[in-house]
Amino acid sequence: MASAGPLSGGGAARRQLHSAEAVDVASASNFRAFELLHLHLDLRAEFGPPGPGAGSRGLSGTAVLDLRCLESEGAAELRLDSHPCLEVTAAALRREGPGSGEPPAEPVSFYTRPFSHYGQALCVSFPQPCRAAERLQVLLTYRVGEGPGVCWLTPEQTAGKKKPFVYTQGQAVLNRAFFPCFDTPAVKYKYSALIEVPDGFTAVMSASTWEKRGPNKFFFQMCQPIPSYLIALAIGDLVSAEVGPRSRVWAEPCLIDDAKKEYDGVIEEFLATGEKLFGPYVWGRYDLLFMPPSFPFGGMENPCLTFVTPCLLAGDRSLADVIIHEISHSWFGNLVTNANWGEFWLNEGFTMYAQRRISTILFGVDPDDTYNETPYEKGFCFVSYLAHLVGDQDQFDNFLKAYVHEFKFQSILADDFLDFYLEYFPELKKKRVDTIPGFEFDRWLSTPGWPPYLPDLSPGDSLMKPAEELAQLWAAEELDVKAIEAVAISPWKTYQLVYFLDKILQKSPLPPGNVKKLGETYPNISNARNAELRLRWGQIVLKNDHQEDFWKVKEFLQDQGKQKYTLPLYHAMMGGSEVAQTLAKETFASTASQLHSNVVNYVQQIVAPKRS
Ligand code: BES
Ligand code: ZN
Repeated sequence: MASAGPLSGGGAARRQLHSAEAVDVASASNFRAFELLHLHLDLRAEFGPPGPGAGSRGLSGTAVLDLRCLESEGAAELRLDSHPCLEVTAAALRREGPGSGEPPAEPVSFYTRPFSHYGQALCVSFPQPCRAAERLQVLLTYRVGEGPGVCWLTPEQTAGKKKPFVYTQGQAVLNRAFFPCFDTPAVKYKYSALIEVPDGFTAVMSASTWEKRGPNKFFFQMCQPIPSYLIALAIGDLVSAEVGPRSRVWAEPCLIDDAKKEYDGVIEEFLATGEKLFGPYVWGRYDLLFMPPSFPFGGMENPCLTFVTPCLLAGDRSLADVIIHEISHSWFGNLVTNANWGEFWLNEGFTMYAQRRISTILFGVDPDDTYNETPYEKGFCFVSYLAHLVGDQDQFDNFLKAYVHEFKFQSILADDFLDFYLEYFPELKKKRVDTIPGFEFDRWLSTPGWPPYLPDLSPGDSLMKPAEELAQLWAAEELDVKAIEAVAISPWKTYQLVYFLDKILQKSPLPPGNVKKLGETYPNISNARNAELRLRWGQIVLKNDHQEDFWKVKEFLQDQGKQKYTLPLYHAMMGGSEVAQTLAKETFASTASQLHSNVVNYVQQIVAPKRS
């Protein structure tokens, strides 16, 4: 099939997007009334005891928004997303004056309005309405201490245990608890920041450039437009090491050697493969920041500086797929962005597809993936289905490149993408592939349940079959020890062990005694340090009520705070014996203060559900 859609040239007019009119029900702001040209944050970080009170830990300073009014009738107020934890103490407005010099900023009044449990509106009133196309600057003086957007950690909660740490996590709607903004992925803008830290601390941000300004100040500039949720800050005892021509690893000093060893030389290969497939890498640098153990995600694709869990320092590069996933967001998510969180699969489904294209090119076989939620895996299946309709991998790769080029720096809806797909492949459009009974695009995107088409994963069968057979042997009432001993698992890759354990878990509870024997036979599994293995061993231990190993579950939950490990284990404990339920309560009591606030809320719902 001939590809019809050449890359549209530079200054060509951009298409009218469905997303231009879409609402974002998660934002309280009037983001359609203004263009946000630039944000500047000028913040000072202080570490101290948890607030309130003098000397308590917090960020304080100003947020400066450069705006242009888009309302043809003018606008009387600016409404921003905010949160009760932001204490705004002053608002000022600078308007275009008649002269040439910078006009003074005048104090203006402001008030807050409730919105939802995750935020409130901050309304800044203009003394006279601003006119259509007028440029204005709004300056907000504020402070944020405790809250869901800025995560403060004590020294004990870090790897080095010597100095405190603070970081922000914006996705999905937490950055309104970091700075007042249009907290919607529909809006993109450039930002800069000046961050002052106490002696002996280093600040890093998701920005193109990083500059030290004196011993305690760091200046950042992001020179590409990004949505609010991708602005991220971390401050701690941080050092860095080069791992490639455009990559550094950042970590606490005690982790930096491990980090460098694990990732030296590999990042560039991932980036180069991504560029070959999806077009230029526009973000300049790709750094990795190794977070403290309570970081709730495997990775977070903050542009120029992906945040990752220290669990990735497994020593065997077995978890590189997380890095490839986050790198894939450089094109899908960060360059072409879902316009609201209802379209989240555009970020994650495409990223899963891109991640597996890169892995397939570099490693041949897609390693079995462990993350299995709808926007990720069903999104991946839908993209695979669209590739299958095209029938030719090279043509589909070219299409992906054209897709990124077409929508880069914009936020879109699924309909924008689907229009483009059908225009690019006119023969498919003529064949009405969007309405094939049973495979209607609408049905893919709006009917819950299993995808109607599953990609061909048979290349992985030869690697997975032995694992499945071994699991079968372990599920027998009478163990066939000879057959079990005949299977040597020491050359198995981590993902094969993971698959084996998933099968064991599916077959659990096993006949009495089998799990004990299993743990003794494979100490490299039952005593593993690799987090993916520890998670699954813990699930097996709980499902079989193998109380002898309960302490391993607790230890694992104390060692790290990743949401995708933590929640399944609490579910398993609360679904288990009384001893398991007690373990859940004890473990939660000893770890709650270390966990991200979102994770605390989820665990609370599992351990002591509140009727609501
Ligand atoms: N952007 C997500 C993490 C995220 C999702 C944070 C939703 C907040 C809200 C990130 O790219 C991600 O998907 N991480 C996965 C990695 C995995 C799929 C390889 C994770 O953390 O497990
Ligand atoms: Zn992702």
